[in-house]
Amino acid sequence: PDVITVGDLANRMAVRGVDIIKFLMRQGMMMKINDVIDSDTAELVADEYGMSVRRVSESDIETGFLAEADDADATTPRAPVVAVMGHVDHGKTSLLDALRTTDVAAAEAGGITQHIGAYQVRLKDGQRVTFLDTPGHAAFSAMRARGANVTDIVILVVAADDGVMPQTVEAIQHAKAAGAPLIVAVNKIDKPDANPQKVVNELLQHEVIAESLGGDTQVIEVSAKARTNLDGLLDAILLQAEVMDLRANPDRSAEGVVIEAKLDKGRGPVGTVLVKRGTLRRGDIVVAGSAWGKVRALLDERNAQLEEAGPAMPVEILGLDEPPSPGEVFAVVDSEARARELTEYRHRVKREKTQAAGGAVSLADMMAKL
Ligand code: GTP
Ligand code: MG
Repeated sequence: PDVITVGDLANRMAVRGVDIIKFLMRQGMMMKINDVIDSDTAELVADEYGMSVRRVSESDIETGFLAEADDADATTPRAPVVAVMGHVDHGKTSLLDALRTTDVAAAEAGGITQHIGAYQVRLKDGQRVTFLDTPGHAAFSAMRARGANVTDIVILVVAADDGVMPQTVEAIQHAKAAGAPLIVAVNKIDKPDANPQKVVNELLQHEVIAESLGGDTQVIEVSAKARTNLDGLLDAILLQAEVMDLRANPDRSAEGVVIEAKLDKGRGPVGTVLVKRGTLRRGDIVVAGSAWGKVRALLDERNAQLEEAGPAMPVEILGLDEPPSPGEVFAVVDSEARARELTEYRHRVKREKTQAAGGAVSLADMMAKL
């Protein structure tokens, strides 16, 4: 049930807390300023002052917006969102770096690319692929927990000289749990002791069956270092994406997921977000978890200012009041009042949760110290 403290209600209604307390007293309710009242009582109070209470639904608070989304209007093709995963040192970062340089725009810009959690590669024929960096980090588990997974395709990197390792298996399980198809990139084939066939055989034990063995998993041999067969890997991604027929509606208010966030000394809170549907524009009012703000700037991974970002576009946004948490959903709302209403509720829910948990923790701490 929705609840609010007497003090919060007074603030929102811009009336004095004592007046509300007096009114409640006349109704036979003895309340103090920090006492919590339910929405029916809040309505009673608001009525007295000729105001109305709008209830924020539980789902808005707990899950954000994505869970409610209806994609029936998603008719415009969009870029696939690809996460690169695999065992430590198998070449994930090297492969991402190599793929990044296939971007026609990167060659033009020729300059420093800053690291943001995601980037989009524009290919010669105008097709685009969005890569998510630093996979396996907090955002991914948080997204899965919220059922707001953004990954369409998982690239599983396996070093040809090392084979299937524990984190390879983890990545396979992650992809299966997320329902994302795998493409295997057998990396480091430039190495003298590379044995791609061994990798294919080992994968079989984990129910990843290569096309060469009659299965449906594309296995592509590459070398990130020697830049061998990067085109082959991109073709595999585009083929898989075509089969999936990925679509979104760009003509609606934007929604998506926070990939990462930080507090930048000069620029303030910075969130890297991936737009799932709709188009995000400069000046939009955005709510991201318990953070909100008017989008002051949209930046791509080259720090170039954008006017807007459509589906499957990763962008940095400036203008939020605090850094949001990775994995949280964001959505554009129609007014600052709505943004405040949502974030105040979320802050309160957070506070109540940490208060509940905090008591127990500090007690445990005290016990430990005794
Ligand atoms: P973590 O992020 O630490 O899990 O590693 P990673 O999977 O990102 O691997 P990274 O790209 O850092 O590469 C690990 C090592 O393998 C580096 O020394 C790379 O230079 C090397 N390496 C990556 N790709 C290739 C390749 O295709 N061939 C060869 N010979 N070495 C490679
Ligand atoms: Mg790495």
